[in-house]
Amino acid sequence: MSEAKLNAAKSAIDLIPDSGPIGLGSGSTVAIFAKELGRRILEDGISVSVVPSSYQAYQLAVQYKIPLTNLDINPELLLTVDGADEVDKFLNLTKGGGGALFQEKVVASASKKLIIIVDDSKVVDKLATRFDIPIEVLPFALGVVLRKIQAMGISPTVREAKMKMGPVVTDNGNFLLDLKFNNPIDDPPQIAIDLKMIPGVVETGLFIDMTDEVHVGTKNGCSILKR
Ligand code: A5P
Repeated sequence: MSEAKLNAAKSAIDLIPDSGPIGLGSGSTVAIFAKELGRRILEDGISVSVVPSSYQAYQLAVQYKIPLTNLDINPELLLTVDGADEVDKFLNLTKGGGGALFQEKVVASASKKLIIIVDDSKVVDKLATRFDIPIEVLPFALGVVLRKIQAMGISPTVREAKMKMGPVVTDNGNFLLDLKFNNPIDDPPQIAIDLKMIPGVVETGLFIDMTDEVHVGTKNGCSILKR
């Protein structure tokens, strides 16, 4: 396990309230956080429940005996803890590297605070520096979305599954495109709008102006970036 991810996860554990509904993000850093959260529930008797943001998050909650809730019962969450693939200096994010982004964004939008946990390799000056931008696309619309994105001068790749032939199918039954930009993105809010305006784009992995804190873990500790 990465020490940097563990330090970020432990830092976010300090923010967990004694009770109430919170959002549980997805990814390998969140998996470490979920284990710590399960331990706190068992040892400290806190009574939080979580809305999972993916099947993975649901399975983590079951594995670590974290009580589950949903957005019908709790449409407002105290906070959400999630990971990210890239974080820029304005705390805008790229997410979706693990295939979850749509439910993650819904859960984040329901939360009073979005807390991001990453290792220090994820912090960049501009988004799309090291990581392509994932978007979730309705399968029916794939052809037309590909054409419109190419017309924007962006190179899309349909994400292929590893242990199954054909495309990755998301938790929502959709496909994923990974978008390669010619250069890191200067104006992520505008790109997020332009992409979302294409009919058939269900959601983008650009999380704009949503993050409150980023806990950046290193081998030796953790620093916190605040909005
Ligand atoms: C899941 O699709 C993502 O949004 C994750 O939150 C993101 O990819 C970070 O994952 P890691 O913590 O595994 O890097």
